[in-house]
Amino acid sequence: MSYNNGQGNNIITFGFNNVNSERKLHFVEWAGTPVEIIREILHRAQVGSDDVVYDLGSGDGRILFAAVEEFGARQAVGYEIREDLCNIAAKQIREAHLEERIRIINGDLFDADLSDASVITLYLGNETNDILRPKLEQCTRADTRIVSYLFPMNGWQAEGELDTHSLSIQEGRLDDIIFVYRVPQAFSGC
Ligand SMILES: C[S@@+](CC[C@H](N)C(=O)[O-])C[C@H]1O[C@@H](n2cnc3c(N)ncnc32)[C@H](O)[C@@H]1O
Repeated sequence: MSYNNGQGNNIITFGFNNVNSERKLHFVEWAGTPVEIIREILHRAQVGSDDVVYDLGSGDGRILFAAVEEFGARQAVGYEIREDLCNIAAKQIREAHLEERIRIINGDLFDADLSDASVITLYLGNETNDILRPKLEQCTRADTRIVSYLFPMNGWQAEGELDTHSLSIQEGRLDDIIFVYRVPQAFSGC
């Protein structure tokens, strides 16, 4: 279902009953990424005006705003399961008049259409990353940068290994780790 926000129709909501019981297991709690870390994530992902940035589990939308407002991303899209957080983000989008550039989808990140993503940010958890990995391998475009805060994507290999995803950067900062991956080739699609 979608609702009209008064200035467009880009805020889409899905009920929780869209989420099947298996996927409910793959829920992680909200915690916002600190602003310094967000800047580092977007910097390391080399976000610029050609980019479409997805935050899977977008919380209050802070990464999306930074991507658009500070790094000039063309578009930013967040998938967030919690309606209250989506509403907070939607209010801020309206107030900033960014409806054309930031979209929040109140739904399960495992249903995300990632076909136009050039950058994907994650702050989820080891188990969720493990479950998400096949989707990222099958449904992202070549050269998509995938940045995970704190949690690595187990099984993805360091840059230089053939036919693998490449770990380009692994940076320590404020005792936190940002893992940056780059999808090396196109996959067959979802
Ligand atoms: C640790 S927070 C990160 C929030 C945001 N990405 C940030 O960095 O500030 C994880 C977010 O993912 C959301 N989430 C958890 N499981 C989800 C799912 N299956 N689909 C969509 N969102 C989910 C949570 O509600 C929470 O807001």
